[in-house]
Amino acid sequence: MLSTPAVQKEIQRRRTFAIISHPDAGKTTLTEKLLFHGGVIHTTGEVKGKSGTKAVTSDWMELERQKGISITSSVMTFDYNELRVNLLDTPGHKDFSEDTYRVLMAVDSACMLIDVAKGVEERTKRLYEVCRYRQVPIFTFVNKLDREGKDPLTLIDEIEKTLGMQCYPVTWPLGIGQRFKGIFNRITKEIIIYDQRREDVLDFQVIPFDPATDMAKLDGILDAESAEQVKSELELIEGALPPFDVQAFLSGEISPVTFGSAKQNFGVDIFLNFFSKYAPGPQPRKTRDGGEVDPLDANFTGFVFKIQANMDRRHRDRVAFLRICSGRFERGMKVQHARLGRELRLAYSNQFVAAERETVDEAFAGDIVGVNDTGNFAIGDCVSSHGRVLFEDIPKFAPELFARLSVRDALKRTKMQEAIRHISEEGAIQVLIDPLVGPQDPILGAVGELQFEVLLHRLQDEYNLDVKLNRLPFSVARWPRTADGKAVENLKGQFTMYRDSNDQPVILLAQEWDLNWAQRENPAVEFQTSITRAR
Ligand code: G4P
Repeated sequence: MLSTPAVQKEIQRRRTFAIISHPDAGKTTLTEKLLFHGGVIHTTGEVKGKSGTKAVTSDWMELERQKGISITSSVMTFDYNELRVNLLDTPGHKDFSEDTYRVLMAVDSACMLIDVAKGVEERTKRLYEVCRYRQVPIFTFVNKLDREGKDPLTLIDEIEKTLGMQCYPVTWPLGIGQRFKGIFNRITKEIIIYDQRREDVLDFQVIPFDPATDMAKLDGILDAESAEQVKSELELIEGALPPFDVQAFLSGEISPVTFGSAKQNFGVDIFLNFFSKYAPGPQPRKTRDGGEVDPLDANFTGFVFKIQANMDRRHRDRVAFLRICSGRFERGMKVQHARLGRELRLAYSNQFVAAERETVDEAFAGDIVGVNDTGNFAIGDCVSSHGRVLFEDIPKFAPELFARLSVRDALKRTKMQEAIRHISEEGAIQVLIDPLVGPQDPILGAVGELQFEVLLHRLQDEYNLDVKLNRLPFSVARWPRTADGKAVENLKGQFTMYRDSNDQPVILLAQEWDLNWAQRENPAVEFQTSITRAR
């Protein structure tokens, strides 16, 4: 049964996305400008401080405060052009962790932010691969046009070659750095003249421009050399490009590219207008039995993609972040918890930092809600208001850092195992078992350094455990599978088969090169990086 027309309308106006980028590309700056256009903040500079926000309210945040970073990924909500936009933060700098990847499991589109001088950087590439895995449509915003950088054709070529994805320029820059004079909006056929001024002033001069007839206008805007270059670029792209193929965009094959300067708030509104026209609303989500849940379905469903632990140390409180997949959420509603096979009441907790909302009584498919949790939820758990719904697993992402954990006081081993079980359930760390040692000294795997730091802090602070973490010389974990998804228990070559928390075999290697060797020895085996349960 479908939701009521009023609820459908709410669902259809949701747009849930994340920005993927390499540190320093300008994610914070762009986020700030998006919130400015969304009317959430009124002067720029309000979200700059990554620490010291009002989220710093508990002992658990101590580490965050000490380090001046934000460990938690938050959701920022704003309205734009009739749309309700949810922007999920992807933790960036040192706080890069599996959480960053998992956020991408909860979005319907992404914006890839690229520094015009640096091009496609390593972190962007990794996040892009996760989007690709889910076939999430990707917008591209090329930032820092006010600084010197690569020329746009070279950059587009680089993006296409590095990521294996076609680009579709929505706008085209007129010059770069010192010579940057504006942006040609290919959709509206207008040139927006750049002038460097207060970031919250938006009345830029606009000139109608049709490349077929108006090329001479460029001579009045740019210096002679830049004008010639832009003319030849425009001739090339206008002549060579087919119209924007929305289907190819929605299936993740083509990325529409806009150019701008987040810092100068230039080109951000063009991106946002294009986004509000083409970004997909809440998408159907696949279930484990091969079916699909329609977001407009009246049945409320959702899954947990993130758990924020121990907001209050004394109570072992946690907040489970649910992405709503269908229907309408109501504060205090009763739902079926698929894994536990029982009913639960969802108490709601405020998490919309930028919108400064305390509590929300209702939410709709596409929204993210933070639910108070006393230990019932693990990453990937599914809830529904009617019947039992199991969405496809959230994949685990191959860790790249490894360490063996041991407790100094042998009598506290059981306690340590209990703590690790708890913490790994939240998805904060991956636990692997060495077949020769057993579970008493588990191997821990992480994507980012900070995951280890947080773990040590928590074991000490919350569980009063004195532990030792010995780093191991591995950097690659792979799950060997047959082509039809079955776990492979025996490999040719001398590989130790470790076990993950789902008792799946996994191999650990020192370097990428060893993987080639494993592959050569076992040509029929697929060595998977992001893994779901074996079929
Ligand atoms: P991040 O969240 O992706 O790590 O990047 P962030 O927004 O913090 O931006 C990184 C640096 O790049 C900042 O400079 C920021 O001002 C600058 N930046 C962002 N967008 C633009 C742009 O369009 N043009 C130019 N020229 N610079 C840009 P900073 O020196 O670290 O800080 P600040 O002193 O400028 O605030």
